[in-house]
Amino acid sequence: MNLAFFASHGGSNMQAILDACSDGRLSAKPVLLICNNPDAQAIKRAQQFGMPTVVINARTHPDAQERTRTILHALRTYRVELVVLAGYMKRIPPAVIQAYPNRILNIHPALLPDFGGKGMYGMRVHEAVIAAGAKESGPTVHLVNEQYDDGSILAQIRIAVQKEDTPESLAERVLREEHRIYWQTIDKIIKGEITLPDVNTTVKH
Ligand code: GRF
Repeated sequence: MNLAFFASHGGSNMQAILDACSDGRLSAKPVLLICNNPDAQAIKRAQQFGMPTVVINARTHPDAQERTRTILHALRTYRVELVVLAGYMKRIPPAVIQAYPNRILNIHPALLPDFGGKGMYGMRVHEAVIAAGAKESGPTVHLVNEQYDDGSILAQIRIAVQKEDTPESLAERVLREEHRIYWQTIDKIIKGEITLPDVNTTVKH
């Protein structure tokens, strides 16, 4: 299964999946990184893996429609079958979601449907979890639709929030679980243990 990643910053989630592919735990083929930020560490990680990267942003493509066309063109050129959002801070254009229905995954650092939605990203998520006094948190892998953090939930790992947790300490423990759950969920999709809706619909190239 050909994987494309979208990332904006560190790309540690992408790295965990690349590692799983390299050492044979995951039988998928990472083929492309789409990145909006030319300084992202994710680009260096992709280069090290030998995966092509395309930088697409409002500077490289000022026209929004042209940006969308370029994204779609890249995904089709590399015959992408599954899109993996890994810390991508831009909105995925609706035309891309429509072109890859139920074929776009995202990981969120809290137990959706709680602590998700517009503006809920990064440390804000963990701050909100702690402020709410939640007893548990953990990553959610879900399908992407046109609303933020709203698509079907595919997998979650629950961990306890400790009394002494700060947003930073919680973020660190959740991230450790993210690095496990993301490749494992992709593995289950590939093995048919998780069935994506419309999985038999062939993506048109
Ligand atoms: C992760 O916390 C993920 O849940 C969220 O963005 C962050 C990305 O981290 N969607 P990284 O770039 O993979 O290190």
